Amino acid sequence: MLILCAGLSAPLLAGTNQRSKGRLSKREFGKLADGTTVDIYTLRNRNGVQVEITNYGGAVVSIKTPDRRGQMADIVLGYSDLSGYVADTSYFGALIGRYANRIAQGKFTLNGVEYQLAQNNGVNHLHGGVRGFNKVVWYAIELNLRDGVLLQLAYVSKDKEEGYPGNLSVIATYMLTDANDLRIVYTATTEKETVVNLTHHSYFNLAGAGAGDVLNHQLKINANGFTPVDETLIPTGELKTVKGTPFDFSRATAIGSRINKADEQLIRGKGYDHNFVLNKKGHELSLAASVYEPSSGRAMEMWTTEPGMQLYTGNFLDKVHGKAGKIYNYRGGFCLEAQHFPDSPNKPSFPSTVLKPGQRYTQTTVYKFMVRGAKAKP
Ligand code: GLA
Repeated sequence: MLILCAGLSAPLLAGTNQRSKGRLSKREFGKLADGTTVDIYTLRNRNGVQVEITNYGGAVVSIKTPDRRGQMADIVLGYSDLSGYVADTSYFGALIGRYANRIAQGKFTLNGVEYQLAQNNGVNHLHGGVRGFNKVVWYAIELNLRDGVLLQLAYVSKDKEEGYPGNLSVIATYMLTDANDLRIVYTATTEKETVVNLTHHSYFNLAGAGAGDVLNHQLKINANGFTPVDETLIPTGELKTVKGTPFDFSRATAIGSRINKADEQLIRGKGYDHNFVLNKKGHELSLAASVYEPSSGRAMEMWTTEPGMQLYTGNFLDKVHGKAGKIYNYRGGFCLEAQHFPDSPNKPSFPSTVLKPGQRYTQTTVYKFMVRGAKAKP
């Protein structure tokens, strides 16, 4: 059962052949308490870039890319074993749903019916609730393609799961291309009117996971505005210009250069934990952000069809035991979460997150990995 979706064309699939053989492998990651076996899939491209993904929570466990000297390093935070993901409260690498980010008081009304969701973040609902998409086992299919390798994950979220209405069928397709792109395509359909907002929650550190904080990373965001928040990180509803604020990343700026300013929004977020209103026309795939880490030369771009992007600078990280014996500290990773705006179900002026029967939710988000300053090969 391979489902074609937006962003993946038939000719690409038709090219499945020998050349990409051996670029996909699967091994057991562990067993859950109920005996369910969970796997980990390794996707490799022809440049040696390697991505590991588990079907527990759809989490990206590692991404290995070269620096400007060709030295490989793992650039995302994560755990070395399944138990780490089961216990995780940081959403390392996770596939987030049904609703990424916060919903005020965990409440919303659709067609006159009020729905109450879990309040798992103070009084608010965060990232799909107590057992969100990051805590369920996804059905997986792997495939070698002409231009890369692909892992497709499917999950049916039952009516009333975590309080949300309607059976929701979700497919997340991860593709690692030979152009060093990690392309994530999501689709969802529902049997009853509901709300959907999916995202990917990798914490990046382009110097290498566990190599200190991310404050020297140069970040550029294609956004003229952001959604300021109240004390509980729910948007006030205002769209504020970034001009003249520490939220102006229209030119490449070090993440840390203004992060500790006595700015009310930075104080509320304990750093950056805000949704940027991306400059775009509609649902087109466009450049949202680019990042450069000077010591390694690694750079990354994030492209998305989504209207918003949450910049989160790991402000809640506190001595987390990660992969390879590494400890992840405060601001040791940053997330670029493509999304619709937080609390949209209660903010009629924000782009809608309502999905009706017969409609299809689609999102394409691409993380592109590159280096700057590499010496040309003789
Ligand atoms: C999101 C939220 C943050 C935090 C992290 C996970 O990015 O916006 O406030 O909850 O997830 O720790």
